[in-house]
Amino acid sequence: MRHLLSAADLGRGETTQILDLAEEMAQVQARPVKKLPALRGRTVVNLFFEDSTRTRSSFELAGKWLSADVINVSAKGSSVSKGESLRDTVLTVAAMGVDALVIRHHASGAPAQASQWVDAHVINAGDGTHEHPTQALLDAFTLRRHFRVTEPDRTTFDGKVVVIAGDVTHSRVARSNVLLLRTLGAEVVLVAPPTLMPSGVDSWPVATSSDFDEVLPEADAVMMLRVQRERMSGGYFPTPREYTVGYGLTRERLGRLKPGAAICHPGPMNRGLEISADAADAANSLILDQVAAGVAVRMSVLYELLGGEDSPARGEN
Ligand code: NCD
Repeated sequence: MRHLLSAADLGRGETTQILDLAEEMAQVQARPVKKLPALRGRTVVNLFFEDSTRTRSSFELAGKWLSADVINVSAKGSSVSKGESLRDTVLTVAAMGVDALVIRHHASGAPAQASQWVDAHVINAGDGTHEHPTQALLDAFTLRRHFRVTEPDRTTFDGKVVVIAGDVTHSRVARSNVLLLRTLGAEVVLVAPPTLMPSGVDSWPVATSSDFDEVLPEADAVMMLRVQRERMSGGYFPTPREYTVGYGLTRERLGRLKPGAAICHPGPMNRGLEISADAADAANSLILDQVAAGVAVRMSVLYELLGGEDSPARGEN
């Protein structure tokens, strides 16, 4: 694998390999001394043109725990705010001699474009409303662990139903998850008000519904999506209250879930809008497990991309 631009780049075998390696990385994460020498001498740049808490810091920790040198460049505070183009910024950073570029950008397709311009490995850390493949990997890691609590030998998601609910139209998390969950064998049901269900969804390998209450009892896991107000130009729903009544994971709706069904949210959450505090903090909420998984999975991805390569440093030691 040269770049990770889309969850569609990953087959079942490759996904399983990344998740298995992430299990080993999670053991490092649990140790008092969190350091492996694997990527010593390699350089990773986080190039973030959009805000981020989880993704940026987990890529940074992932690189550092593998002993890579990691720097962060964000649009705010860089020459991007002086009007530099994406191409010039990417070429400038790459000219310093970086091995991997982790890119988040508000334009769908920006990381794929960047991968044409540079020799470095490019990882898509979220591009517009398009994709966020490492989020789908960390969600798969979290769900696989959850399903293994009762079925320790489970390797696929065959027979499992994952309901993804909320602002599907603006969600790169939903797009990457649909691809990866299907690759792993899950059935996916998308739930959204008609205004937030993307056009063209009929050709996706999923079932769709606008009735959250009807599908909830089927779910082995429910993934709530953030209402992305920053990407909305007009009125997609009458009032926040009405959105919550129709599509929020409210306390009342928790009672419709199968016992033990997992509750996920990629964060950041709008508590009280798409998810209630009761749901976010429920015993079967995996939201903080998802955050923890983010570091282990990104360590695994960085290692897959950079770890096998010969480097001068490796020869010397
Ligand atoms: C998501 C993102 O930025 O795509 N968050 C994340 O990476 N954990 C989802 C969101 O912003 O709603």
